[in-house]
Amino acid sequence: MAIPTPHIACSDPSLIAKTVLMPGDPLRAKFIADTYLTDVICFTSTRNILGFTGKYNGKRISVMGSGMGMPSIGIYSYELYNFYGVENIIRIGSAGSYDESLRIFDTVLVSSAVSESNYAKVAFGYRSHQMKPSKALNTKLTKAAAKLGIPLTEAAIHSSDVFYGENKDHWKEMRTKYNCMAVEMESFALFANAKALGKKAACLLTISDSFVAPEITTAEERQTSFHNMMKIALELASN
Ligand code: ADE
Repeated sequence: MAIPTPHIACSDPSLIAKTVLMPGDPLRAKFIADTYLTDVICFTSTRNILGFTGKYNGKRISVMGSGMGMPSIGIYSYELYNFYGVENIIRIGSAGSYDESLRIFDTVLVSSAVSESNYAKVAFGYRSHQMKPSKALNTKLTKAAAKLGIPLTEAAIHSSDVFYGENKDHWKEMRTKYNCMAVEMESFALFANAKALGKKAACLLTISDSFVAPEITTAEERQTSFHNMMKIALELASN
C-alpha cells in the first residue's frame, strides 16, 4: 500500500515525527498541540481524527487521536508504524479503576494489557491474551515521571471490547484471575501491532472512574490530572 493511507491524509512521511503521542480523543490531540507545542502543523484530519506535529523543548513530536477501541487504534497505529516510519507510540488515555489502591486521577503506567480480544490472534497469529509494552519506553517514562515529581503506579490493565454490558461481575474476574487493576479499551491492540512490526509502544492512563469507589470529580481536577500524564509523555519525547 502506498501513502497516503486510507485513514491518514498525509503524503509526506517527514511531516510525522518518530514519536507520536496518542490520546483517544482527537480534540485532546489538538489541545496538546495548542497548549504545549510550537511550530505546529496539522498533517491529517481524515474522519476528524486530527494529527499534529510541532516542537517541544526544541524536539519534534507528533500527537494524533486514536479513536476509541481496539479496531480504531489498531488501524491508526498500524498505518503510522508501517507506512509513515513512526518508531514510538505512547498512548495517553483514561481508565476505570478495578482496585481501591488506584484512586481517581492517579496516573498509571501500563506494565501489561490483558484482553479477551481476538485482535492479536487474527492479525498476527499471537495466541497470548497478554501483550506487553516496550521495556525501554517504560523505563524512560518512569524516569520522566520521577524528574517531574509526578507519582506513577505501574499496573497490569484490562483492554476490553465492551463498555456497556449486562454481565456486571466480569470485571471482578479480570481483577482476581489476571491481576488487572484498571480497564481501558486500546492498549492490547497497540502493543500487538508494535510487537508484529518491530516498533515500540507504551501507555499512560489517568484514572477517570472507579468500579469500587465512585467519586465525584470537578472539571478542573480532571484537567490537572490529564496535564500530569501529558507532561510525562512530552518529557520522554523531548529527551
Ligand atoms: N476508560 C475510562 N473508563 C473506562 C471504563 N470504565 N471502561 C472502559 N474504558 C474506560
